[in-house]
Amino acid sequence: MSLFSALLRRMKNRILNNLRIANAIILSVLFVALTVFCYIAKLSLAIPLFLLVLGVYCVLARKSDYRLFLNLGFLLAILLFLAYTSNRYAFYSNLLIPVSAVGLLVIILYNDLYLALLMSFAASILTGLVAGNRLDIAVIYFIASVVGALRVRNARTRSELINAGFFISIFQVLCVTLLNPFPDFIFSRHFLLDYFRPLFINGLVSAMIVIATLKVFEYLFGVITNFSLLELSDLNHPLLKRMILEAPGTYHHSLLVGNLAEIAANAVGANALLCRVGSYYHDIGKIDKPEYFVENQIFESSKHDNLEPTMSRLVIFNHVINGVEVAKKYHFHPAIIDFVQQHHGKSLMHYFYQKAISEAREGEAIDEQTFRYPGPKPQTRETAIMMLADSVEGACRALEEPTPPRIDETVRKIINNKFIDGQLDECSLTLKDLEVIGMTFTRVLSAMYHTRVKYPERKNENANRRSKPPDANSLTPSPDSSQG
Ligand SMILES: [Fe+2]
Ligand SMILES: [Fe+2]
Repeated sequence: MSLFSALLRRMKNRILNNLRIANAIILSVLFVALTVFCYIAKLSLAIPLFLLVLGVYCVLARKSDYRLFLNLGFLLAILLFLAYTSNRYAFYSNLLIPVSAVGLLVIILYNDLYLALLMSFAASILTGLVAGNRLDIAVIYFIASVVGALRVRNARTRSELINAGFFISIFQVLCVTLLNPFPDFIFSRHFLLDYFRPLFINGLVSAMIVIATLKVFEYLFGVITNFSLLELSDLNHPLLKRMILEAPGTYHHSLLVGNLAEIAANAVGANALLCRVGSYYHDIGKIDKPEYFVENQIFESSKHDNLEPTMSRLVIFNHVINGVEVAKKYHFHPAIIDFVQQHHGKSLMHYFYQKAISEAREGEAIDEQTFRYPGPKPQTRETAIMMLADSVEGACRALEEPTPPRIDETVRKIINNKFIDGQLDECSLTLKDLEVIGMTFTRVLSAMYHTRVKYPERKNENANRRSKPPDANSLTPSPDSSQG
């Protein structure tokens, strides 16, 4: 008996540990259950077949687990319920089913055009089938849904969604007019009231439904959209307001990193808005002890001068741990928390490591691993771009004469070091991407930190001047200036 239960446990663990087997089993069970349901409810068996194709796409092409499939299946189930009730009880016209809302929701939630097209196709065909095998309805809905999805790609405002609703309405009306084989019928009252009117209303209603339910689906599906990112990018966010008061240097640094990361992300086709917003919050852990970080130090002497390297290491190390705690306290989405957690990867705190070696007693060994950040290494292109932007911004700010060749040299050195140190091993940035990112950083930083032309000074001004103002660039480079 014990042998049997041990075997069962082993099998269960093996299945759960192997995502592919688990996904295949869940998909098969769902497929069989749906087929039985459709057979009993006398619905077309094309429904489970379409959903199977969708499931295979989600698992193989998107390399996602069954949750994505369940989320998309949930959207289709709502739509099919509306189509079924419309067909069976005739509460409302078949032409009022908000099919385009599915395409709009998918492109906004997942930012994947292929997935949105696939879902638009599945939603249109299945609605056509459920609504009494209406191919004309399926064609109209599919074309309008594709148009809508293309219109709201990268949408950031509600007005773009309403615009898309208008486009959907216009395309639906156009399609039904073109599909009609009888020209006389187009000018009849029956056509205007029963085809033209519902299809025009449908597009606008679809857009309204998306606006009203987007937040709910975002929460249910656990994704973050451009709309939520824009809310977080508001500089009046309580956390950013706290940062400007308690750690003004870090606030300024975060804004610069945000701009740098956004431009670089745009250059390599990554999610630029996510990069910018993630950068704004990456150093929120510094709010706790801002005076220990170079960008907040007002005086030339550093707080670390009187500290043991191991203590300094602890303070710097903890800004990542504290940052994650603060982000969780403010209920940030995991995609933003990733920026806080991964922005140093497992990099070495060079300055304090070298200081510890130089201050070590004879025969005392210093473990390099204890001077590394907790990690993990950047897992996405966006967090990796932000890590590089963070490092180059800090290092270039510490340059005494930030001329373009010096900035270029510093940027290349930092990117090479991160690459050689293996910090970019777990993200999907290519060498070509790194080259483009490096060039973008150099261009932007050269414009930001270029040396100003020295104007000739007038003699009387020189005489009245009590002391020369301190040059920001002459400050001693920080222990962690390239660490961000
Ligand atoms: Fe930073
Ligand atoms: Fe940091």
